[in-house]
Amino acid sequence: MSEPLVLGIESTCDETGVALVRGRELLVDVTASSMDEHARFGGIVPEVASRAHLEAFGPTLDAALDRAGVALGDVDAVAVAAGPGLVGSLTVGAAAAKALALALDRPLYGVNHVVGHVAVDELVHGPFPDRFVGLVVSGGHSSLLRVGDIATDVTELGQTLDDAAGEAFDKVGRLLGLPYPGGPHVDRLAQQGDPGAIPFPRGLSSGRDKDRYAYDFSFSGLKTAVARYVESCQDRGLDVPAADVAASFSEAVNDVLTRKALAACTANDCETLVIGGGFSANSRLRELAAQRAAEHGITVRIPPIRYCTDNGAMIAALGSAVARAALPPSTLDITVDSGMP
Ligand code: KG4
Ligand code: ZN
Repeated sequence: MSEPLVLGIESTCDETGVALVRGRELLVDVTASSMDEHARFGGIVPEVASRAHLEAFGPTLDAALDRAGVALGDVDAVAVAAGPGLVGSLTVGAAAAKALALALDRPLYGVNHVVGHVAVDELVHGPFPDRFVGLVVSGGHSSLLRVGDIATDVTELGQTLDDAAGEAFDKVGRLLGLPYPGGPHVDRLAQQGDPGAIPFPRGLSSGRDKDRYAYDFSFSGLKTAVARYVESCQDRGLDVPAADVAASFSEAVNDVLTRKALAACTANDCETLVIGGGFSANSRLRELAAQRAAEHGITVRIPPIRYCTDNGAMIAALGSAVARAALPPSTLDITVDSGMP
């Protein structure tokens, strides 16, 4: 018998995603984004995002079924991101998923969005090894995971204690007068600067913090150091060396991300590092990860960028893994959890 056809629904932040996965095969992945509506506010406005999900869900579902040539009745299971994320946004996706599961009389799987960012890589690069480390970096999360089985055995080794990596880039982008979201702009500017020009701090990387927070991150002190540096240039009437600031800042973030990720691989006897989340588009992260992984004999897997930003495929992939593991489905009274561990 063929594996179940899983419909995945993503609505944790500003992307409404619907995808269909059978086993490890992606049939279709459709995403609608409300980012344009938030850009003028310089950040995600939760109420705007929730309403946008409500408006986008029906057309996105129709488009996915249409493109895959699948009838709604052919869906065997429904998976939805139950957290972490914005509670209003999560609620829209969860309500839609419950309604579909109830109407179709199919199992419902509430899954973790951060784990989904790793799970999606199976659709691209094939089955995972027995154990590996996942690094999930985006505007909302920076987490290190130890994974045995993606459905049943995931441990969070560490996460950011304050800002996420993408969030820190967006804030530095604002300091440098770049458009929102600043991450990609800071990345481009950094490529023209000297990463060694300014010795910005590496959070949780020295002294007692180094051992206590071996796999955690902190980027807010770094962001403050950048703000102080920019202000000190302005106070002295000097031009801000924006490219050098961007390059040195980017180096500080990516040095810590890659060093800790590879240390986690070594400590956990893992030969594979899977990187996911929208921040994995960062050019310096990719360079440093490849370089340092090669030095450690570790393989790096990063899905194409369209599967790194929030999407339905990641939720369908994880739902499919949960179904494969024959875990009991969620009940229709599942709630959403904005801070889900
Ligand atoms: O995964 P994503 O699309 O949305 C969530 O946050 O869940 O990630 C978007 C984040 C934003 O903060 C964006 O500025 C950042 O990732 N980002 C980048 C780059 N591309 C996206 N940050 C640095 N360099 C990039 N190339
Ligand atoms: Zn995400």
